[in-house]
Amino acid sequence: MPKQKADQYNDPTHNYLRYWDGRDYEHAAEEVAIRRLLKNRTFKHAVDVGGGYGRICPILKDYSDQVTLAEPSQQQLDIGKDFLKGKKGIDMVLAQAAELPFKDASIDLVTVFRVIHHIPDPAEEFAEIARILEPNGYLLIEFANYSNAKNRVKHAVKFKRMPHEPVDIRTKDSDIPFVNHNPHTVRKQLAHAGLQVEKVLSVSNLRSPRIKKLLSKKSLVNLEKAMQVPLAHAYFGPSTVYLLRKRV
Ligand SMILES: C[S@@+](CC[C@H](N)C(=O)[O-])C[C@H]1O[C@@H](n2cnc3c(N)ncnc32)[C@H](O)[C@@H]1O
Repeated sequence: MPKQKADQYNDPTHNYLRYWDGRDYEHAAEEVAIRRLLKNRTFKHAVDVGGGYGRICPILKDYSDQVTLAEPSQQQLDIGKDFLKGKKGIDMVLAQAAELPFKDASIDLVTVFRVIHHIPDPAEEFAEIARILEPNGYLLIEFANYSNAKNRVKHAVKFKRMPHEPVDIRTKDSDIPFVNHNPHTVRKQLAHAGLQVEKVLSVSNLRSPRIKKLLSKKSLVNLEKAMQVPLAHAYFGPSTVYLLRKRV
């Protein structure tokens, strides 16, 4: 059965570009993670799946000859035309993750940032990403980690186990799927698609309004840099980034 059209971001009352106002630290934390994991690697063709208006495409361009923003919302692509104006080597296509318009084994890097919280069961999407990746090609994926340190403490004090299943965190009146994933479950789903985790980072470790008020952006980013690797395997932060390779 074909998946429902992922056009939730065609909403004239919501400008995702403006969502990033006041979130310089979160963007910088993701940029640190991307540059750390892609350092000394070069690619021919990177595809940013569910890339929105192309927030991370200019970063990817530093590592890849060509970058394609593959995004199912025409509204996001329209904002992207302006955001990416004048940036060479970045093109865009209207497409959703379960149906990517690329040949088998034709892409050497796929990125998926802040997307799978809208996809409670991403098995089909992971299989599609694996299909377009070259053998040994890379996937860089970021997702909201339900099993972060704060949630683990909250569960422990109530003697509750951490759920393996995605947890629905959408607001009462929203009909847009919005989940947080268990990183161990995501890793298993990716392995099932033939994608093997090589590196893990804990990201946005200081995402707290109070901490963000106390420290300058420079201090936040320096601390974030120091925390991403040592806290990775404890899945400390609210965001997890995996670097994976397609098994041959
Ligand atoms: C929170 S935004 C993230 C955008 C961008 N990746 C970023 O990090 O700035 C979520 C994006 O996922 C896209 N999306 C939702 N469902 C999708 C699906 N099934 N396949 C691909 N993209 C999807 C939305 O259209 C939206 O642009």
